[in-house]
Amino acid sequence: PCDVFAPRRNSQGFAMTDIVTLEPLRQRLAALESGTFHATPIVGGQRPAGTGQPRVSPIDLERKIGTLVATDAAAVAKALDLADAAQDGWADQAPTARAALLEKAADLLEARQDEFLWLLSREAGKTLPDALGELREAVDYCRFYAHEARRLMGAAIALPGVTGESNELRLSGRGPFIAIAPWNFPLAIFLGQITAALAAGNTVIAKPSRRTPLIGMRAIEALLDAGIPADVLHYLPGESGGLSDKLLGDPRVAGVAFTGSTGAAWKINRTLAARDSSIASLIAETGGLNAMIADSSAHVEQLIIDVLMSAFNSAGQRCSALRILLVQDDIADQVIERLGLAMQELRMGDPLQLATDVGPTIDTLSQRDLQAYCDKLAGTARLVGRTPQPAELSGGCFFAPHAFEVALDQLPTFETFGPVLHIARFKGDQLADAVHRVNKLGFGLTMGVHTRLDSTVETVRKLAKVGNLYINRNQIGAVVGSQPFGGEGLSGTGFKAGGPHYLLRFACERTVTINT
Ligand code: ALA
Repeated sequence: PCDVFAPRRNSQGFAMTDIVTLEPLRQRLAALESGTFHATPIVGGQRPAGTGQPRVSPIDLERKIGTLVATDAAAVAKALDLADAAQDGWADQAPTARAALLEKAADLLEARQDEFLWLLSREAGKTLPDALGELREAVDYCRFYAHEARRLMGAAIALPGVTGESNELRLSGRGPFIAIAPWNFPLAIFLGQITAALAAGNTVIAKPSRRTPLIGMRAIEALLDAGIPADVLHYLPGESGGLSDKLLGDPRVAGVAFTGSTGAAWKINRTLAARDSSIASLIAETGGLNAMIADSSAHVEQLIIDVLMSAFNSAGQRCSALRILLVQDDIADQVIERLGLAMQELRMGDPLQLATDVGPTIDTLSQRDLQAYCDKLAGTARLVGRTPQPAELSGGCFFAPHAFEVALDQLPTFETFGPVLHIARFKGDQLADAVHRVNKLGFGLTMGVHTRLDSTVETVRKLAKVGNLYINRNQIGAVVGSQPFGGEGLSGTGFKAGGPHYLLRFACERTVTINT
């Protein structure tokens, strides 16, 4: 029997402080700098010819890192036909056979570590520790969902019945799934959605973000090289002109796994709802307007470290990232002053340099939106922290971490996806009110608490409507299998990625009753 609590080893990675590992890695990554990558649709194992359009790095817009041949309408139609035709055969495979292929894929991802680290840095702007964290998460998803397929889908559950009848309940694949991934986790979330769908017995059409097709391409190649059949998994990067609607509107599509903005999830939901000949399942993991609450008993040094990590790691481009710090007024001046000083010390720069804390945002559009947001906010709020941005970064999409003090009744109402932190003070007797204010924003992804009082922990634990609550630590980087991740309200549909119920969303249940 396969037990969800059975010991299971997550990907180990390596220590970023170990020079014996780091120096050869640095040399190998440097050797990759002269290469370029190529992405194309992969449908039934076929790739169209062509040189494609150049792709550039957010680190330096002059820097070409690869080329992309975009998806056309014929590729979408063929992917749907093939995924539909392959569905029954894939669902009929033993779950253990599907699981073995996913485990092989995990091994290949680890073996191709250097390429993924380089691509995550150059295409998505990830710092080296972030890139390694993401690669490990991707590997963990492959192994975790393989484990879950064995646990949940391996055998039927026998159920009681009247004398002379036997009943059994079995999980089966639903049908072709569309996996639509975000650019901020172009490897881990991309593969998490795909491997869950595959593990549960569904064929998959994978759509990477249009901003990260090169990483997606190498990820799909790892799955195909591991033995996932070519008619079971298809890759459609860089689409243009309404091809998504064609995919989502096709009645053969049984489900959609989506991670991205709340607005995009609504649009997908409406498109699926407009179909009148089938009902599709939507699994959406969307945005967050995540708060951290620090009462006057908080350990201030630890709080500052965890705020920096939660708000500015990955240049604030995590759905889990801290956006609103609520500080009890007794310690607010001290926290704001120290945080402002600490932000001066953060280093922006090339994400592959180990000294870099903050890499670029994903593109110029994002950079411009963040600047416009901060310019506007500066009219009503006090700028209390800003990281210096070196002039030599002007060729890339860098945006300096900013912190603003805002009034408690002027908390932001929408997610700003980047390194912008809002800080507000609350009075000592208004802890519950602070939590209610955050709940009222409607999102429900992560929340942090810093306190040395059990009563604060209990109040927040009881009141907070969030999927992931972190106490006396940072609030990012959920670990597969240990911290199932996902929100409620405007933050998503559940179940949680990397948790014991996630695969159920990708499966259908069948009961068989036999009159013996
Ligand atoms: N799962 C990612 C995190 O926890 C988004 O930061």
